[in-house]
Amino acid sequence: MRPLPQLILFLLLQGGNSGDGADPEEVVAVLQESISLSLEIPLDEEVENIIWSSQRRLATVIPRKEGQPATITVIDPQYEGRVSFLEPSYSLYISNLSWKDSGSYQAQVNLRTSQLSTTQLYNLRVYKRLLKPHITVNFEISGEGSCNMSLTCFVEEAGMDVTYSWLSWEDSARTDHEGPILSTSWRPGDNAVSYTCRVSNPISNISSRPIPAGPFCADPGYPEKSSTFFCLLAKGLLLLLLLVILMVGLWVIRVQKKCKIPRMQKLKRNRMKLRKRGKTGLSPA
Ligand SMILES: *[C@@H]1O[C@H](CO)[C@@H](O)[C@H](O)[C@H]1NC(C)=O
Ligand SMILES: *[C@@H]1O[C@H](CO)[C@@H](O)[C@H](O)[C@H]1NC(C)=O
Ligand SMILES: *[C@@H]1O[C@H](CO)[C@@H](O)[C@H](O)[C@H]1NC(C)=O
Repeated sequence: MRPLPQLILFLLLQGGNSGDGADPEEVVAVLQESISLSLEIPLDEEVENIIWSSQRRLATVIPRKEGQPATITVIDPQYEGRVSFLEPSYSLYISNLSWKDSGSYQAQVNLRTSQLSTTQLYNLRVYKRLLKPHITVNFEISGEGSCNMSLTCFVEEAGMDVTYSWLSWEDSARTDHEGPILSTSWRPGDNAVSYTCRVSNPISNISSRPIPAGPFCADPGYPEKSSTFFCLLAKGLLLLLLLVILMVGLWVIRVQKKCKIPRMQKLKRNRMKLRKRGKTGLSPA
């Protein structure tokens, strides 16, 4: 049994360390990569053990003593095979991070000589590297040719803490706009503007390709015009084809009429020839 005053001091110190003052250290990490939660231990005092915990007790480390290696016991099966403890201070190293590893961590260092303990707190957040954003453009053209555009930026499997911003470039001058949707307008005669969406989270940032305002707005009715043009072209070609068929038909009829009489005569002649040949062919038999 500990003497009572010492126990009170111990509890006070422990409460003081993990409670009011110390903010947890914020740590960000990348999904499926690794991270170390660095621990500082007093080197002038003998450490009895270090207890790492998250939602529950994660592992216990009894540091190496003269001749004896450190004793490490991983208790939480969620971390089995993925954690190691980096000497000399037995910092927690977690590899192949998963979403479930996010959360608060605590290292309790129990000292042997003074029977005191210190606690270090961490808050680990796991993020995924962002994929390239997708852009959708909606636009509306008014009578005077001015063009209202709405550009929407979107990232698949984005996760938490993603910020979207739109950068517009006009003669190499940049304007920023926060948020995933940019509403803007453009008039014929305006300078060429292009828009780029940038997404970022605490571990990555990535930009879309630049979207020029031109193709949507500079040529009002760009998709419609081309489609009506092709429609007209197709109709015209069809009409032409019908006309050609009609003309060919008429010509064929006319030619047939003209050829009827000579052809019939020819046929008669041919038949006569055949008969003659038939006779001559039969005679030797
Ligand atoms: C990492 O963990 C995932 C499951 O969370 C597993 O499928 C994968 O095989 C692990 N990768 C390595 C290299 O251990
Ligand atoms: C374009 O937006 C302006 C306001 O920004 C609005 O007054 C105008 O009616 C819109 N034009 C069209 C064609 O939607
Ligand atoms: C974006 O990420 C790159 C590394 O991929 C980094 O060098 C750069 O500082 C980041 N920029 C911002 C604004 O976060």
